[in-house]
Amino acid sequence: MEIVRLSPNIGANITGIDLSKPLSSGVIENIKAAWDEHLVVRFRNQSIRDDDLLRFSKYFGELDPPGPNPYGITFLPEYPEINVISNVKTPDGTPIGNLGDGEAVWHADMTYIEQPPVAGILYSLEVPVGQGNTYFSSMIRAYEALPDSLKREIEGKTLIHDAAHNSAGMLRKGYSETTDPSETPGARHPMVWTDTKGNRALFLGRRPHACIVGLTVDESNRLLDEVWSHATDPEWTWHNEWEVGDVVMWQNHLVMHRRDAFDGNTRRIMHRTQLKTFAA
Ligand code: SIN
Repeated sequence: MEIVRLSPNIGANITGIDLSKPLSSGVIENIKAAWDEHLVVRFRNQSIRDDDLLRFSKYFGELDPPGPNPYGITFLPEYPEINVISNVKTPDGTPIGNLGDGEAVWHADMTYIEQPPVAGILYSLEVPVGQGNTYFSSMIRAYEALPDSLKREIEGKTLIHDAAHNSAGMLRKGYSETTDPSETPGARHPMVWTDTKGNRALFLGRRPHACIVGLTVDESNRLLDEVWSHATDPEWTWHNEWEVGDVVMWQNHLVMHRRDAFDGNTRRIMHRTQLKTFAA
C-alpha cells in the first residue's frame, strides 16, 4: 500500500489495494490513519459491486441511510443504504439518481440534522471526461488560518443549517420556500466543530439560507460572507478529476465539498454511502 499526498493541505491517493476483496485489519488501520491525516483519500482503478462498497464502508463505521431526495424515490431498493448521484433518467423520464447535472454548491452532507453523517464515500461508475470535478476544502486548515478577529467573532456562535434545499438548490420533498433566513428550517450547530481528537474546524454546512442565531439577517450575512470566502480559499482545497473506478472518501465534519456542473448530454453515475459514526 502506498500513500501519496495530493495537495499541501488535503487529500491523499492510495494505491496497492483492491477494494473488491476483503481487507485485513492492518490495512484498514493504515487507511484510517491516512484518512485522519489527509481528511480525503482516493483509490483509483477500482471495479467493485454494491456489496463491495457496503463491505468496504462498514470497515470504518456504521452506515447511515441517504437523506430525502426531491423525488421521494429510493434509488436502489435492494440497497437502501446506497445513494445514487446521477443525471441519468430512465426512458420514462424517472431520475435514477440525485443532483442532476448542475453545480452542487459547497456543503457538508446533511448537516441540517442533529447528528450529521461523519463521512461520505463516493464510487464512480460512469463519468464525463474532464467535467463534473468535485472539490474538497479542509475546514481544519481554514479554521487554523482564520484571522484572530474572525475567530473571536464566530466563537460560541450557532448556525442554522438549511434542511429545505439540496446542494443543487432543489427543494427536498415535503419542504416549501422561505424568504427570511432566520426562519430557515434545520438543525443548529456551533460554527466551530471540535472533534474527538481535539481538532477544531469551521462547520458551515452550506451558504444559501444559512443564518447565525442571535444576529440580524444583515449582520449574519456580512459575517457569513467573510467566513465563507476564507473557507473556500483554493489554498486548502483539492479537486478530483474523476475517472471511472475512483473511490473517494471524506470526513464530513472536517471537510466541505462542491461539484462543477457538466454537460447534461453526457452520463455521470456515482454510488455513495455515508457513515453515521466511526468504528471505535
Ligand atoms: C455530493 O455532493 O455528494 C456529490 C458530489 C459529486 O457529485 O461529485
